[in-house]
Order: sequence, then C-alpha cells, then structure tokens
Amino acid sequence: MEQIWLNEAYKGEVPNEFQGKVGWQSPSNIALVKYWGKRGKQLPQNPSISFTLSECRSETFVTFEKAKQFNFQFFFEGQENPAFGAKIEKFLLDNQAFFPFLHQLHLKVESRNTFPHSSGIASSASSMSAFVMCLIEIESLLVGPSTGSGALDLCKASYFSRLASGSAARSVFPKMALWGATEAYAGSSDEYAVPLENDIHSVFRTYLDSILIVSGETKSVSSRAGHALMVDNPYAPARYAQANENIKNLLAALKSGDLDTFINITESEALQLHALMMCSNPSYILMKPNTLRIIDEVRQFRNETHIPLCFTLDAGPNVHLLYPESEAKKVEKFIKSELVTYCNQGRWIADHVGDWPKSLM
Ligand code: PMV
Repeated sequence: MEQIWLNEAYKGEVPNEFQGKVGWQSPSNIALVKYWGKRGKQLPQNPSISFTLSECRSETFVTFEKAKQFNFQFFFEGQENPAFGAKIEKFLLDNQAFFPFLHQLHLKVESRNTFPHSSGIASSASSMSAFVMCLIEIESLLVGPSTGSGALDLCKASYFSRLASGSAARSVFPKMALWGATEAYAGSSDEYAVPLENDIHSVFRTYLDSILIVSGETKSVSSRAGHALMVDNPYAPARYAQANENIKNLLAALKSGDLDTFINITESEALQLHALMMCSNPSYILMKPNTLRIIDEVRQFRNETHIPLCFTLDAGPNVHLLYPESEAKKVEKFIKSELVTYCNQGRWIADHVGDWPKSLM
C-alpha cells in the first residue's frame, strides 16, 4: 500500500491560482479490544476493534493557497495553538513523501471538538482523521475531478490517519472497525483499518455509549509513553496472545449478537489495559477511586437486573458504559440516580455508535 500511495502522491507544480477551503468532521472511537503496544512505523502489536462514536467528534477546516514554501498555522477552538500545531507539522514532515505538494502550499488549519476540552476524552483519533480527510481532499482537488468517482479513498485515509495517531485509523469507518492483521478476518491489515459494518448483528448497529467523566484532568502518562513502556513489560507476549484470542472470539460474538461474550471480553480488555499500566516499569495508575466505584455499581446492577450493561475504559479514568438501545430508559435512570454522583461536576456524555466522516462544505 505504502508504495502505491507514494507512486500516486501528487508531485506536480501547484497552479498559482490554487486556493480554497475544505472541511471535514470525523468521529472519535472507543476500542473494545485495545491497541496497546506498537512496533515499527506506527504498527500495532495486536489487532484492535472499536465502536465509532457520534457526538464526540472533531470538525476541521483547512484553508489553502499556493505559497513559495510550506507554511502552516494551527488554530484550536479559535486560538492559535503552537503546541498541537507542532505535533501535526512533525507528522507532515515525517511523511512528506506522501504529501510532496505541501511544499508549495500555505495551510491554515482550524479545528474544534464537539466535546468539552476538559472532559478527558482523547481527541487525537477524531482530530487527526478529520485533518487527514482534509489533506486527501486537497490532493484530489489538485489531481482534478477526471480521475475518480469523487469519493475519497477511505483505505488511504485510514492509512494516513494511522501514521498520525494509531487509533485514528479506525475513525474513518462507520459503526465498527478492525485495525490489525488477524487470521480471523480476511483483508485485515496492520497498515489500515477495515470496516466491520456488514459483519455485526443488528443489536450493535445502534449501541449506546454513555461516557461518565470521572476526571477532566490531563493524564499523568501520555498514551505515547504508555505504548513505549510495553517494550519492556514482562507480560507483553502474553497480552498480545490474549488480544488475538479476544479478537477472534469478539468477531464471532459481534456477528451472532452474543451479548454475554461481548460483555466478558469488553470488560476484561478494559481491565487488562490498566493492569498493563500497573505492571509497567515505572508503574502507574490512571484509574481514580470513582472509576472503581462505577465499575462495582455497574456489575451489581447487571447481576440484579440482567440488563446487558457493561463498561470499558480508555487510557484514563473515565468510564464508557455500553448497552443496547432497547435498554436506554432503564440505564439512563440508573446513571442519573446512582452514577452521576461519581462524575466530575455530574458530567456525562450521551453518545452512540456513529457514521463515517462527513464533509462540512
Ligand atoms: O492512538 P493512540 O496512540 O493514542 O493509542 C490509543 C490507545 C488506546 O486508546 C488506549 C486503545 C485504543 O485501541 O484506542
């Protein structure tokens, strides 16, 4: 794939009058089987599967015009943000072979998230995939309308999103995506994600995700540092074997609608992710006391009511509650009466399985 996109990259002269604006929104995603540990150039140590979200998304506009050299400005929620801009600029420079036309452009990037800045929700998957969609559209405008159907290549978008932020590879597909090569799914790849939309039972197509904000603070250890600590983690080989097994069994459960297996794997994966952090060197804990209180309450609620509500965690203290749409009323009542008390300022986000990125223009 890399060779194809290197060959296809637009290397011509950018016309003097080339200018315009593109805009894309892209969703965040929450992994069920987690990607934790990488190798080579942003390749995963094990395959992962995620739900694509809907309410948690990034909206990114890129204004472009011909320039003598690459020139880049990044604004986040109306304010110029040099720190985040530097991260994107590094991604572009590291991967300039894929985007040679950028050397002749001035880019002004304006991005915002639909979820609150201090909610502790990771935005790299949504923001980087939205930005990559903009870049691919700019390239397609340069190449001209005659070469394609007009639809942007989502496989290519997933590949470049992965280079920017691993989990972003999964954000370009609706409902659910699988990233990472596994024998259990034909066509899967370490280099880009594939859509699972057509391989899931109808119950998962409308699944709900209520995100309980336990803390909005910035994480004490970044995901980048967390991935790096997996290199010397003595449990890493067992973890990668277990993740592969979980992928196989979860794919079967997603297809058949087996909620017991879904819950079992999803909760075990969340706890394994945090267990790996606790046995890294140095060790660290990202869960908070209220994370554990919520987990306890959720398991008790499920035992008592037999409602198939389960939890997952990202690399942070906030809890994602996953459940079928048909249980929405009962679970919302439970959240409001028992769980909001554990949330920072009572905050939670009602999200659900969502669609693919959309053009904003
Ligand atoms: O995409 P990154 O490098 O921010 O890593 C994401 C890792 C987890 O969110 C913890 C798991 C996942 O698969 O999304």
